[in-house]
Amino acid sequence: MNNLRPVGVIGTGKYVPEKILTNSDLEKMVDTNDEWIVSRTGIKERHIAAPDQATSDLAYEAALKALESAGMTGSDLDLIIVATITPDSAFPSTACILQDKLGAKGAAAFDLSAACSGFVYGLATATSFIQSGMYNNALVIGADCLSRITDYTDRNTCVLFGDGAGAVIVGEVPEGRGFKAFDLGAEGAGGSLLQIEGGGSRLPASAETVENKKHYIYMNGREVFKFAVRVMGTATIEVLRKAGMDRSDVDLFVPHQANVRIIQSAMQRLELPEEKVVVNVHKYANTSAASIPLALVEAAEEGRMKAGDTVLMVGFGGGLTWGASVLVW
Ligand code: UT7
Repeated sequence: MNNLRPVGVIGTGKYVPEKILTNSDLEKMVDTNDEWIVSRTGIKERHIAAPDQATSDLAYEAALKALESAGMTGSDLDLIIVATITPDSAFPSTACILQDKLGAKGAAAFDLSAACSGFVYGLATATSFIQSGMYNNALVIGADCLSRITDYTDRNTCVLFGDGAGAVIVGEVPEGRGFKAFDLGAEGAGGSLLQIEGGGSRLPASAETVENKKHYIYMNGREVFKFAVRVMGTATIEVLRKAGMDRSDVDLFVPHQANVRIIQSAMQRLELPEEKVVVNVHKYANTSAASIPLALVEAAEEGRMKAGDTVLMVGFGGGLTWGASVLVW
């Protein structure tokens, strides 16, 4: 990637809905307790969208902030990518709804489905388009309303998820900065470990699919955990190799926020001290595609990166998929 036009992040924004659902709220809904949730996952609370908020509404708030921080308006965008597994509806895409709301007239707009890895997939896609010269300024958003696909009678999953959106503007940056490498991948054979079975062309929505809870997230937590620990290690090592760097070059590690134990195992593998790792899973839980951008944007807002710092992002999720990137801030 080194001889190509340098492309990086030129604006950031995030949004989480106001309502907070705490572990003690969940204790009143299912047979669980704060001690189990905190010790097994690190999660203390999560934000939940209001009944009248859809994914595009969360994405819109994050996008406005990202545009403002880049000193741009919607009309400066020529590409919009929304990574999500909870689009407002099957179609039109959530990206098209945003394109209209942001006044990004004529911009290309599409959704990208790679679950919790979606934001990194989106960054790689936008970067490639911009490096090729096809587009100049892209809005890449990870946004999800997982509360809409969570079964709040299933303690195995309902404690894990939250809602939110994180957005970045991707564009040309000064020489030496920007994205240095991506490592994207998938293991489709593991798709059934983490899925929503109903509502697609295989199993269209019916009274029976609703009755059988086929529109909610199903997850084999233990197997996904093993996959996560494995690929967080392999993907980070591979992306650093592609960038011609090693773990000692990493200034800030921004992992997918699913479970603090998965983050800790990656930290150990990379031998990273706590101050180089962004953790906010205790506040937001797992927000799927929004997880990495929420962590990245929050770290930027807290002044945790300075120009020239090396930021390593890595995510994993349904598909099964993974995505890692090395970005010089
Ligand atoms: O971004 C998408 C990717 N998803 C993930 O990254 C999730 C990956 N998986 C995980 O994070 C963990 O596997 C979980 C947090 C989901 C589960 O933790 P675990 O340590 O793997 O627990 P477990 O599934 O082995 O369950 C242990 C026990 C079980 O009881 P028995 O069978 O041992 O009697 C569960 O029924 O904990 C029970 N349990 C709960 N107890 C209280 C499961 N959920 C709960 C709960 N409260 N909410």
